Amino acid sequence: MNVNGRPYRTIWAADDGVSVEIIDQTRLPHEFHVHRLTTLEDACEAIARMRVRGAPLIGATAAWGMALAMAADSRPEHLQRARAALQATRPTAVNLAWALERVSAVLIETDTGDRYATARRLAMELCDEDVEINRRIGEHGLQLIEGFWNRGNGKVFHILTHCNAGWLATVDWGTALAPIYRAHDAGIPVHVWVDETRPRNQGAALTAWELAAHGVPHDVIVDNAGGHLMQHGQVDLCIVGTDRTAASGDVCNKIGTYLKALAASDNGVPFYVALPGPTIDWSIEDGLTGIPIEERDADEVTEVSGRLPSGDHGVVRIIPEGVSARNFAFDVTPSRLVTGLITERGVCAASREGLSTLYPERSRAAF
Ligand code: MRU
Repeated sequence: MNVNGRPYRTIWAADDGVSVEIIDQTRLPHEFHVHRLTTLEDACEAIARMRVRGAPLIGATAAWGMALAMAADSRPEHLQRARAALQATRPTAVNLAWALERVSAVLIETDTGDRYATARRLAMELCDEDVEINRRIGEHGLQLIEGFWNRGNGKVFHILTHCNAGWLATVDWGTALAPIYRAHDAGIPVHVWVDETRPRNQGAALTAWELAAHGVPHDVIVDNAGGHLMQHGQVDLCIVGTDRTAASGDVCNKIGTYLKALAASDNGVPFYVALPGPTIDWSIEDGLTGIPIEERDADEVTEVSGRLPSGDHGVVRIIPEGVSARNFAFDVTPSRLVTGLITERGVCAASREGLSTLYPERSRAAF
């Protein structure tokens, strides 16, 4: 997508032929800063600190992390160490394990001397694939939005989204936001309700920044406003992303998604989840018990960071000293609350049957 008229992806090979560059998402929305990764440790730090985030981009960064590791040392023991270090950075997004498995399986069969070049090629392929997958999610999602909008006599079409599942969460296009960009570009008058998404405010900071850059009308709302808006007919459709979707169609996404799905169900608002194939975990049937939920540092709850009136970046504490906090980063929305899944292969029911129809080969392989 464009930033100040220049096309960017979220991760790309640097000019030096070895390093990788990323958009540092911890500096957005107030500063657009390109950050360089040169070592395996840099890649691990970038994922764990959330300079990069979002399930597809975490997977892509892990693939690049393997390439950086192979540049330093391509012996088998280092390959395994690199994989384990990257795997330990964040537990919930299954794209991380998927990307590491995909790259490692090839590297293990590759001569030591060729491992670095092969890992680089695989990382580039994985990134290109992610862009194409998300482009297709956008196409299928556009048809869905068009269908709903056509029933409304040309009125502004209000879509609610949670967290950031835009191009910043992927290599390009995004998952939940891809259909929205396509609808906007196609002339459908979309307006987006952007949940701020405490504690790290990916909605307020990142989704709003992206939508503004592309010219899509939107308003940031507090996380608790969605139910009220739905009760008053102000939400026509919800589209969210996901970090891991169980084979049953249960959807794990940023904390608070489940409450939005409950409100949508109570108010008859269609609730869709956009996801690329690699986000499906075919090994898990029950999302509620099977998906590990990341618990992050309590500081993200007790403190808020942002731009101070002076223009400097600052962090302020918002709860009393000595009071403890817990920081659950994701929740699971049961498939019964999900109207449908928007994938690169089309839209399906949130169920094993639905997913198996679109991904027959993967569903068979999982048994
Ligand atoms: O903790 P994050 O920012 O990595 O959260 C992941 C997400 O971006 C969201 O949960 C998103 O909705 C799904 S990833 C496309």
